[in-house]
Amino acid sequence: MSLIVVTGGAGFIGANFVHHALATGARVINLDALTYAGNLDSLHGADANPNYRFVQGDIGDRALVGALLKDHRPNLFINFAAESHVDRSIDGPAAFMETNIMGVFNLLEAVRTNIDNLPDGFRMLQVSTDEVYGSCAVGAFNEESPFRPNSPYAASKASGDHLVRAYHRTYGLPLIVTNCSNNYGPYQFPEKLIPLMTLNGLEGKPLPVYGDGQQVRDWLHVEDHCAALMLIAERGVLGETYNIGGNSTLPNLTIVKTICAILDELHPDAKGESHDSLIRYVDDRPGHDARYAVDTSKIERELGWKPSVSFEAGLKRTITWYLEHEDWWRKIREKNYSGARLGLGAS
Ligand code: NAD
Ligand code: TYD
Repeated sequence: MSLIVVTGGAGFIGANFVHHALATGARVINLDALTYAGNLDSLHGADANPNYRFVQGDIGDRALVGALLKDHRPNLFINFAAESHVDRSIDGPAAFMETNIMGVFNLLEAVRTNIDNLPDGFRMLQVSTDEVYGSCAVGAFNEESPFRPNSPYAASKASGDHLVRAYHRTYGLPLIVTNCSNNYGPYQFPEKLIPLMTLNGLEGKPLPVYGDGQQVRDWLHVEDHCAALMLIAERGVLGETYNIGGNSTLPNLTIVKTICAILDELHPDAKGESHDSLIRYVDDRPGHDARYAVDTSKIERELGWKPSVSFEAGLKRTITWYLEHEDWWRKIREKNYSGARLGLGAS
């Protein structure tokens, strides 16, 4: 049975991946620092599984990461740990440099110094973002596109990706980078577009659309992302990078209006008003990327992966999940909101 060490498994994508991996029969050790974005409630169910173990700690802790690799000799090491929110990177970039650059450097050093004791077939996946490519006026970015990051978040992720590439080329380490588009699904921290708009709408609060809302993102259901990562872990070519996307590019305003329409149906307002009356146009994000789109033909061609969840069905399922899991999001909403750009833009 394979053993996977996951970092950042108490965050949105990491927690979904932990559940996904345990369902395949893998054993999982989850290393997470439990920053504001880490939430052990997202691991409910996994925590009772004998194949799962949680370790609280920082990816920057060289001794801890080294000991995990040395003592447990995992088959797969997958890094989800990151500071992940663009708006926070604008307000306070230092933590992004620490985790997304120095943290990745530390993980790579831990792999380099333990590689001789790791099992045959060991590999490490670095989970990254399409935002490293910058904004894309037309067409879509492929794996050969140059990096032109525009936010401190994107620049820090790009730096991490460069380090991974260099460690593969220089030391021959078995490393792969994945660059995915915007994920959505259960357990996403409600500062990101889809959960924020869903929960503000549910509570009758303003829906802060940045600028004119015409910025375009590609949306990938987190289950499709997890399936792609598993496939890349099994059959991806070492030293390569793979784009992962949902083939679902839409302007933000369309997303917000679709969320409103779904809420009108699933959770009608007591006075019969449409949720889209809550939309407020607020100041644009500085350096806001106008459009992201990824070309996923490489993973489709080489590994036979395609997204299976349509955005329409996935969005409705996600909103239903939030409606049914108030116990999960209520605690976070009561604790975390503090700044204008972090969710209370127009209130
Ligand atoms: P998230 O913010 O929800 O979770 C991040 C997790 O990492 C949290 O559990 C946090 O406690 C942990 N963490 C942060 N710093 C740490 C440190 N120094 N040591 C150990 N743990 C630490 O993030 P997410 O949305 O799940 O994103 C996961 C990865 O996917 C990130 O690398 C992100 O850049 C990438 N990504 C996310 C998206 C998206 O749409 N969410 C899109 C593209 C790429
Ligand atoms: P976000 O979920 O923060 O992801 P990213 O910045 O990584 O793409 O934002 C998605 C898009 O939605 C982005 O163009 C910014 C926009 N947005 C708003 O218009 N209002 C909001 O309150 C938030 C959080 C995002």
